Amino acid sequence: MINYNPKILIVDDISKNIQIVANILKSENYLISFANNGKKAVGLCQEANFDLILLDVMMPELNGFEACLQIKEISTYKDVPIIFLTAKSDTDSVLKAFEVGGVDYVIKPFNAKELLLRVKTQIKLRELTHKLVQTEKIIALGSLVAGVAHEINTPVGVAVTATSKMDSKTKKFSKFYKSNELTKYDLDNYLASMQEGLSITFKNLERASELIQSFKQVAVDQSSEEKRKFKLCEYLNETLISLKPKFKNKNYIINLNCNMNLELNSYAGVYSQIFTNLILNSIIHGFKNLNSGEINIDILIKNLNLIIEYKDNGVGIDENNLKKVFEPFFTTNRENGGSGLGMHIVYNLITQKLNGKIDFKSEKNRGIEFLIIIPLKDFNE
Ligand SMILES: Nc1ncnc2c1ncn2[C@@H]1O[C@H](COP(=O)(O)OP(=O)(O)OP(=O)(O)O)[C@@H](O)[C@H]1O
Ligand SMILES: [Mg+2]
Repeated sequence: MINYNPKILIVDDISKNIQIVANILKSENYLISFANNGKKAVGLCQEANFDLILLDVMMPELNGFEACLQIKEISTYKDVPIIFLTAKSDTDSVLKAFEVGGVDYVIKPFNAKELLLRVKTQIKLRELTHKLVQTEKIIALGSLVAGVAHEINTPVGVAVTATSKMDSKTKKFSKFYKSNELTKYDLDNYLASMQEGLSITFKNLERASELIQSFKQVAVDQSSEEKRKFKLCEYLNETLISLKPKFKNKNYIINLNCNMNLELNSYAGVYSQIFTNLILNSIIHGFKNLNSGEINIDILIKNLNLIIEYKDNGVGIDENNLKKVFEPFFTTNRENGGSGLGMHIVYNLITQKLNGKIDFKSEKNRGIEFLIIIPLKDFNE
């Protein structure tokens, strides 16, 4: 449970009403603040974190509905319950209250017990959601840490074995050398095993270091890239060109269908990372053992959203694996060095960095189809 006293904001232009509500709530350990108009309420929400807001509708300056919309714009208030307290009882007002983001609507004059119960229910729900999110985070972190340890264990373990072998060979070598027993054969043998040992150590430490780089990307917030204006399609074309060497001599076609003038004010590197992962996955997994393949990327703007449809005509994903694609460390390519982090990173970038959504469908031998939706209100001019 939340181990602090829930903070409640009461907003009403009539101070008598604030007093009545505060009186009703005083039996609980709530910390009460108040504002006498919508504008002040929005200002207070920008400064402090309330757990629940009781909001009057008819107020000068900014009415309750408008205030609610503005409060919901504040990123930390998306899940904070707002209950409207109002004398307006017509259906349109009630519907409007829910439309603008309210969770409940109490008509004045209200019954004190009923109001208290409604408030307690919302606070309880908020506590339970908070607990659920914390538990989920802990579970996710636990499995990520276990996964990291497991993945790093193999290359580091191999490097340790190789160095310890080199160590014992060097000791033996040094003993022969000191006792003047060293033959040319011993020297050749020693040099050959050192070369082999160093190469094994180097490869495996390099692998560990690559893995650490990918783990760092999982924590999306660590990238320090600034937003900048860029032409998405021009930029993606450059990304595609940089991926050309991966096609080797295969006959892969990529069709990028997008308005060349489409300009975003966003994180260019994030888009490059997303498309690089999707395309490499189509090549590595989708077109595995196939000499040809086609990728179609359609990008358009609809209802202030950037819509990206990405399709390949590869082998698709096994039904049993559909749910695992975004899980960290899920890979069907471990033998060739797949870490299973690519799609997890793509998912985090889209949902956290770009506030968007990603979904996909796939059927065995019918390829894969991703649908990505990114709201543009934060990212265009
Ligand atoms: N286009 C695709 N076609 C078929 N299977 C795919 C496709 N994209 C992803 N997959 C499946 O989803 C799994 C997870 O993909 P993900 O990118 O997370 O890991 P990976 O490519 O195996 O490793 P890496 O961490 O190197 O990207 C893949 O191993 C593969 O089984
Ligand atoms: Mg991948």
